[in-house]
Amino acid sequence: MERDSLSLCGRSGLLALLLMSATAVVVVSFTSPLPPPLPIMPLPSYRQLRFQRQEQIMFFHFGVNTFTGKEQGDGTEDPSIFNPEGLDARQWVREAKNAGFKVVILTAKHADGFCLWPSAYTNYSVKSSPWKNGTGDVVREVSDAAREEGLEFGLYMSPWDRHEPTYGDTLLYNDYYLGQLRELLTMYGPISQFFVDGNKDPSSKDMYYLFDAWFALIHQMQPNANIFSDDGPDVRWVGNEAGEAGTTSWSMMNRSMVTIGGPFEEYLNEGDPNGSDWVPPECDVSIRPGWFWKESQQPKTVNKLLDIYYKSVGRNCVMLLNAPPNQTGLLHGTDVANLRDFRSVIDRIFATNLASKARVSASSTRGGDISSFRPDQVLNDDLEAYWASEEGLTTPFLTLDLGSNKTFNVVKLQEAVHLGQRVQLYHVDVMQDGRWKTVSVGTTIGYKKLDRFEKVHSQLVRIYIDGARGTPLISAVGLYLDTWSALSLAAESTQVSE
Ligand SMILES: *[C@@H]1O[C@H](CO)[C@@H](O)[C@H](O)[C@H]1NC(C)=O
Ligand SMILES: *[C@@H]1O[C@H](CO)[C@@H](O)[C@H](O)[C@H]1NC(C)=O
Ligand SMILES: *[C@@H]1O[C@H](CO)[C@@H](O)[C@H](O)[C@H]1NC(C)=O
Ligand SMILES: *[C@@H]1O[C@H](CO)[C@@H](O)[C@H](O)[C@H]1NC(C)=O
Ligand SMILES: *[C@@H]1O[C@H](CO)[C@@H](O)[C@H](O)[C@H]1NC(C)=O
Ligand SMILES: *[C@@H]1O[C@H](CO)[C@@H](O)[C@H](O)[C@H]1NC(C)=O
Repeated sequence: MERDSLSLCGRSGLLALLLMSATAVVVVSFTSPLPPPLPIMPLPSYRQLRFQRQEQIMFFHFGVNTFTGKEQGDGTEDPSIFNPEGLDARQWVREAKNAGFKVVILTAKHADGFCLWPSAYTNYSVKSSPWKNGTGDVVREVSDAAREEGLEFGLYMSPWDRHEPTYGDTLLYNDYYLGQLRELLTMYGPISQFFVDGNKDPSSKDMYYLFDAWFALIHQMQPNANIFSDDGPDVRWVGNEAGEAGTTSWSMMNRSMVTIGGPFEEYLNEGDPNGSDWVPPECDVSIRPGWFWKESQQPKTVNKLLDIYYKSVGRNCVMLLNAPPNQTGLLHGTDVANLRDFRSVIDRIFATNLASKARVSASSTRGGDISSFRPDQVLNDDLEAYWASEEGLTTPFLTLDLGSNKTFNVVKLQEAVHLGQRVQLYHVDVMQDGRWKTVSVGTTIGYKKLDRFEKVHSQLVRIYIDGARGTPLISAVGLYLDTWSALSLAAESTQVSE
C-alpha cells in the first residue's frame, strides 16, 4: 500500500495525493525526505574518523639502538656510532606507500634520549654524530619524503629519557620535554599522529609527566594530530604488541578506567559498549621480533602479516606495523619483499567484491523504498551512505541475491560509525541446497569487520543483526575469495576436529 501510494505521488504529484487517503508518512516522504536517524553518543571527531579510515600506518624505529642491537639503550651510547651512510628516507616511505600504508611514524627520540633531529636543548643528537658531519636531520628527511609521496607524517617521542640530566626533576624535565615537543610540532609541517607511551624510570619516584600539558600543546599547535597513548585521548593502545584487537572491539571506552589502575589490557583490547569516550584502538606490532633492526632476526612471513591484517584492520582497529631500517639507513631487502607480497595478496583478495552486482533487500528500511537509506547503499563506495532499518528496530536483516552461485570465504561488514558504533551481535547465513546455513557469528562490527570461514558456493546471503545499541546503520558489505589464508584455515580446522 505504502509503495503504491508513493509511486502514484511520483507520477501525478499533488493531484494523486489529493485523490487518495494518504497517510502522514506518505505526505512526509513526498514533500521532504526523512532526515538521518539520531546519532548514538559518543561520536568520533573528524580527525578520529580520518584515522580509522587510514587502516594501515607504518612505524619506523630507528636510532642508536639500530647500531648496538639493543631494544632499549641506557643513554650512554656514543653518538659516534650513529652513521647510516646510505640513509634514504624516500626508500622507507615509498615501500610503506607501495604496501598500502597511509601514514609513517618515526621514533624522533627513544628512551636512550638520542635525538634524530638537531634539538637546540641538547647535544645528544645527530649534531654530534659522524652522519653527514653532524649536519643531518632524520626527522626532516622522513617528513619531506612523506610529503613528496603523499603520505601523512607522525612522530614518537619517548617520555623516559635516560641521557638527559634533568630527568627525575618534574619541573625541569617537563620544561625540557615541552621545549622539544614545540620543536617537533613547528619545524616539520603537519603532524598526523603523535605517539606517546608511558615508559618511565621505575627508580625515579618523584618524576611525573605532565601529560595534560603535553597533550594540550599538541592539540593547540597541530589540531589535526591524533594523540596516541594507552588511554588516548584520540587513539588507544589495543592492549598487546601482537597486532590483535579483540573479536569484540568497541571504539568506545571510559578514559577514567585506566587512570584508576589495575589490569586494563583486556579492557583496552575490547573497549566498552557503555564507554563515554570515543577512543578507537591502534594495533602496534613489529614485522621483526624486535622493534629495532637486528642482523640475526627475520621478518614475519606474508601469511603472518595477512593474519595480523584480519585481526587488526578486520576488527575495527588500525594496523600500526613497525618496519625497522637497518644500519645502512634502508629497509632491508627481505622486509621489503615481504611487504610487497603482503600488499599484492591483499589487493588480489579484495580486488573483486563478489557482492558488487547483488540485488539487496532488507526486512525493514527507514523511509521505505525511495529513501536514501535503501539496502543497496551498502554496495557503493560512500561510507557515509548506509542502509538503516526503521527507527527502533535492532534486529533487521539484509538479503543479497548474487544472481548466480559464487564462491567465497570472507565477508566484510562496515558500520556508519560517524553516527556512533551500534551493532553488538550479528550472524551471516548462506543458502545451501535449499537451507540457510550459518557461516559466521560475530559481536561488534565498527568501522570494518572481516570474517573468514570455510569456502562456500552460494547465490543467497543473509546478514542478520541480532542486537545493537540502537537502529543499526550498515555502510558496506563485501564478499571475497581468499585463497591464501584458506590453506592455513583448512589446516586449523583439521586440527580442531581431530
Ligand atoms: C653543546 O655543545 C656546545 C659546544 O661544545 C656548547 O657550547 C653547548 O653549551 C652545548 N649545548 C648543550 C645544550 O649542552
Ligand atoms: C665531512 O667533512 C670532511 C672534512 O671537512 C669532508 O672531507 C667530508 O667530505 C665531509 N663529509 C660529508 C658527508 O659532508
Ligand atoms: C553495559 O551496560 C548494560 C546496561 O547497564 C549492562 O547490562 C552491561 O553489562 C554493560 N556492559 C559492559 C561490558 O559493562
Ligand atoms: C563507563 O561509564 C559509563 C557512564 O558513566 C558507565 O555507565 C559504565 O558502566 C562505565 N563502564 C565501566 C566498564 O565501568
Ligand atoms: C640494508 O638493506 C639494504 C637493502 O637490502 C642492503 O643493501 C644493505 O646491505 C643492508 N645493510 C645492512 C647493514 O645489512
Ligand atoms: C548452487 O550451489 C548449490 C550448493 O552447492 C547447489 O545445490 C546448486 O545446484 C547450485 N546452483 C547452480 C545454478 O549451480
